[in-house]
Amino acid sequence: MPAPRPALVPAPTQLTYRPGHFTLNPDTMVRITPGAEPAATLLRTLIAPATGLPLSPATDGPFVLALDPGLGGLGAEGYGLTISSDAVLLRAAHLTGLLRGIQTIRQLLPVQALANRARPGVPWRLPCVEITDVPRHAWRGFMLDVARHFQPVAFLRRYVDLLALHKLNVLHLHLTDDQGWRLPVADYPLLTEVGGRRAQSMVGPAGSGVFDGIPHEGTYTERELRDLVTYAGARGVTIVPEVEMPGHTRAALAAYPELGTAPGRRLDVWTRWGVCDTVLGVHEPVLDFCRNVLDTVLDIFPSPYVHVGGDECPTTEWVTSPAAQERIKAEGFSGTGELRGWFLGQVGDHLLGRGRIPTAWAETGEGLPPEFTVMTWRDPEHTRIALKRGHNVVSSQHSAAYLDYAQSASPAEPPAQPGLVVDLRSVHDHDPPEGPASGGELIGVQAQLWTEFAPTAGHIDYLAFPRLAALADRAWRGASPWPLARARLIAHGDRLAALGVRHGPFDPYVPVPHRFGEEST
Ligand code: ACM
Repeated sequence: MPAPRPALVPAPTQLTYRPGHFTLNPDTMVRITPGAEPAATLLRTLIAPATGLPLSPATDGPFVLALDPGLGGLGAEGYGLTISSDAVLLRAAHLTGLLRGIQTIRQLLPVQALANRARPGVPWRLPCVEITDVPRHAWRGFMLDVARHFQPVAFLRRYVDLLALHKLNVLHLHLTDDQGWRLPVADYPLLTEVGGRRAQSMVGPAGSGVFDGIPHEGTYTERELRDLVTYAGARGVTIVPEVEMPGHTRAALAAYPELGTAPGRRLDVWTRWGVCDTVLGVHEPVLDFCRNVLDTVLDIFPSPYVHVGGDECPTTEWVTSPAAQERIKAEGFSGTGELRGWFLGQVGDHLLGRGRIPTAWAETGEGLPPEFTVMTWRDPEHTRIALKRGHNVVSSQHSAAYLDYAQSASPAEPPAQPGLVVDLRSVHDHDPPEGPASGGELIGVQAQLWTEFAPTAGHIDYLAFPRLAALADRAWRGASPWPLARARLIAHGDRLAALGVRHGPFDPYVPVPHRFGEEST
């Protein structure tokens, strides 16, 4: 029987199926060239649970994982894969390319190969194929907000695996916000002890005035985060940490009120949704605090990019703050409007001085030094403006990449961020502008999942998939006709099901049943 020709997500840039297949069996040996050992380890880790195949390393064998610096044209993540009836050759210039190719091999196998327990009796056939595959964008990200609703690190590891399957390479963790602080900082233990717990949560959208009366809490340990970084690194995924400042800091201010604009005030960790007026002060000890927190971040996360938030920072408190007025005078500013950019510039300098790239949400990109990489989210026009100002940009448009919006207009959809529907096609059609020749560079695209409406793993799965698969397809493959992309994504649903992903609808008008209970990760 011929091997099926699976639809791959993301679709490779060049793919030709040929007649025949290669069968993996217990005797299949894997030959590894120097430096490719981590790829062989990942192959075994991912494939052994379902197949039971040892895929033992050997000096000779029909299955070859080859690092070849001569293949520089494939870039940092590209790979070539040739499968014939008697050999498998996966080659890349860099280890990360081999890691990407292994995910393709996984998708070429029968879907049962994705199971996390033994699936005996399945012939483990790979169709003969010739693939050359290079990503369209260098940054293909997913942001998860673990501040509004905490998720344990086991859940984050599961998402690292899901991202890697889709050749997404960034898990951006939104670690702090008004409603919770999840990052341990040795010099400021109250950040997690006080800031990691809120008394209750708002029910419904911002301003609803209804609360659930249920405390919500959670923090990571340093060990957990370090292990997550290692786990992700072995899969070619970078964890990009985000610590919000100078707005979205109510949880920090509940722990250390002296960091605010009214030092004697007692504040709770915010129980509402929306934009909070309480922000950091601009006196010197606050900058020392931020530098201290960022040094902890740098110590745990090797990511070249470190995100300092910077969005939605109301200036109302700075108008009446003597320290803010002093700062405005000392810096020669015309008013509070310049303080946000100044603040981010200060912490940005700290990161630049330590060899990292400061990253922030762009409101329009204004007021930030060009060394900042920005995530444009409000308006596609902001991408163009930020590129022109010289920023490197990750396009994170809310209208195409915010997965907290419902994915269909059906009344059967579970509660989601109101105001917009972001369906599968909108995500796939997201087409950010390129930079001008002399400006910054569009380095990639990213999906965002804010979790006001996603308290459980099941909610997150439902909102994230299949839309994240659509983003991955677009981000890696670039544009392709929607009917073909849609067919690929629907076929890919078998993989999501095999992985236990409780995904949302493939078609905006055909909602899938959902049940969100007390499910575990
Ligand atoms: C944002 O959605 N406030 C970045």
